[in-house]
Order: sequence, then structure tokens, then C-alpha cells
Amino acid sequence: MTEKDFIPKKINTSNLKKGSFSWRSPSNIALIKYWGKSEPQIPKNSSISFTLNNCHTTTILEFSKKENPSKEFSIKVVFEGETKDSFKPKIVKFFERIEKYVPFITKYDFVIKTKNSFPHSSGIASSASGMSALALCLMSIQKELNPEISDEYFNQKASFLARLGSGSAARSVEGDLVVWGQHDDIKASSDLYGIKFPFKVHKKFKNYQDTILLVDKGEKQVSSTIGHNLMIDHPFAKKRFKQADKNISKLSEILQNGNLTAFVNLIESEALTLHAMMMTSNPYYILMKPNTLKIIEKIWKYRRDNKSDICFTLDAGANVHVLFPEREKEKINTFITSELILFCQNNHYICDYVGFGARQL
Ligand code: DP6
Repeated sequence: MTEKDFIPKKINTSNLKKGSFSWRSPSNIALIKYWGKSEPQIPKNSSISFTLNNCHTTTILEFSKKENPSKEFSIKVVFEGETKDSFKPKIVKFFERIEKYVPFITKYDFVIKTKNSFPHSSGIASSASGMSALALCLMSIQKELNPEISDEYFNQKASFLARLGSGSAARSVEGDLVVWGQHDDIKASSDLYGIKFPFKVHKKFKNYQDTILLVDKGEKQVSSTIGHNLMIDHPFAKKRFKQADKNISKLSEILQNGNLTAFVNLIESEALTLHAMMMTSNPYYILMKPNTLKIIEKIWKYRRDNKSDICFTLDAGANVHVLFPEREKEKINTFITSELILFCQNNHYICDYVGFGARQL
């Protein structure tokens, strides 16, 4: 598939006056991180993520034919019941990027009603779940206009569009483990959209647990988009992209053979490398907080003392994702509630596990 395959040949909107579609789309946590991109939203290295089951965005997209045709986008955003004009610029930018692929978007007035299952100010990025939910709603309109499109094309194009809203959103359409970015060892992988991890995954990864410790619920001081751009002249960028490429191959093996010791080592190394890139860019910055480090030390001690397979990963913020196999759930939950939540803002944490992609409501 190339970018041209996503430009529709004919779209006739005359029979579709109004309607509404609703999708629920998950957030995801990257195991091998996407950090660095080129225009338009092409990742510098491929990434793999776990889809999260409990952290998701639900979006209802209402549309009605414009009374007075214009080239402007007509968008109203309602977030958790309240009109949110502050969300509009990001969505207008998204619409500008995708208009070529869904040209019908200038023909309608849109009301986007959206809500998250997790608190807005939790430090959990809602761009992956939010942009993918919106992309899926738009694809439902396209399907109404072109009923012949296949389910495979529907999902690919939803991911393709979501990517143009936020890179990591490409990994929030379908599948429990998703690969985005072309990689020689992952058949059918693409820079343009995410695909389901194509190999059989070892049973040790079934219902893999992810407890998110909310260390800092504030807005990030440096956005991911700025962070990606700081990779452009980064002294270690080339090495990092090569390393990520190798790490995808390593993780692919691990996911198939179930070597949890190797998993722990690789996942933590990826998380710390991501933050090392931030600390060694110019301007340099640190998103971890003292409590992030305290939690990491506690996790390492617990792992040593209990011969556990617990490990952590980080996204571009201070929160810690605690990853562990389902069989350790009971013991680790006790450890988390007795020793880790005191490092969380307002003792706040979210229990999650690997889920299965978006669904239409
Ligand atoms: C550290 O997808 O948020 O979470 O493409 O600019 O919207 P944009 O960035 P975004 O970057 C995510 C970065 C990351 C790693 C990852 O999810 O792979």
C-alpha cells in the first residue's frame, strides 16, 4: 500500500444528509518507543505497543450537510459534556492534514462529543485514543459513502488517518500488540499504518498487566512533538534509530519464545533510553520526577527480593507503567498498594492490562 491508495477516487455525498457514528478506542503503551519522525508523520524507527484495555476514549461524531457550502471546516467539540473551543485548533490541524484522503469533511457540519475513561489531567496522553476514535468515526462515514471498502482497508486507512493526528494513534486501531513502522523482520509492516503483531505470542504474555502509577498529573512541560523534533540534530539519533531497529527484532523473538528475563531487560532499557534522549538533546530536559526514580528503585528491589518478572516502562512523562505477568497479579498488587502508591499524586493509580483494539458502539 502507498499513500495514493488512501486517496478515494469518487465520493458522492448527495445521498448522505446527516447521521452519527460512535467508536471506543484504546490508549496504548509503547514497548519499543517511537521517538523521532520526518514529515508527514513518518517514524524514524518502528515501534511496538501493548493496547490498553481500560484506558480509552469514546467519541460520537454527529454530522449534517452544510446549508451553505464552504471550504472551511465546521467543527464543534464537546468534551465530557462541555463545549471545548481549546481542543479545536488541534482537530482543525488534523482535518487539514487528512482532507486529501477524506475530502467529504468540508461538506458537513460536525459535532464531536468525546470522553475519556481516565481523568483528563492524569498525565495519560489522550492523543492516541482520541485521534484514533475520531479517525474511525470518519472512516464509518466513508464506508457509508463507499460501502464496497473491505474491513482490512477500513482498519488500515483508520490507522493511516489517526497517524496524521498523532503518531502513536496509528497503534490504537486493532490488535493487542501493534507494530507501526516498516521493519524487515515484521512482514507487511508499514510506515503508513499500524499492523497487528503477525506472529504467535507466547502464553506468558496473555492478559499482561500494566498498572499506571500517576506520579505527576500536570501538563507536560515539553510536548512529544517538540521532543520528536529535537531528534533532528541529536548527537545520538542515528545510533538510537539503529538500536530501536535491533530492539524490534529482539522483542519479536521474546514475544514468541516467552523469555521474561530478556523482556524485563529490554523494556526497561528502552524506557531509560527514551529519557536519555531527552536529557541529551539541546535544549535538554527531564520529565522524570524524584518519585519516578523512587518507584524504579523499589521495583528493582522487589524484583531481586522476590525473583519476580516485574518491570517498568515510561512514556514521555513522569508516570510509571508497572508491567507484570498475570500470574503475579495478586502479590504485585499488594506491593503496589503498600509500597508504591505513596509516590503517586493523591495516591492515584490505574490498573490495566492488554486489550484488543477499538470497537464501534
Ligand atoms: C514517547 O505520538 O504523542 O509515547 O506523533 O507528535 O503526536 P506525535 O507524538 P506522540 O509520541 C509518542 C511518543 C512516546 C513513544 C511511543 O508512544 O511510541
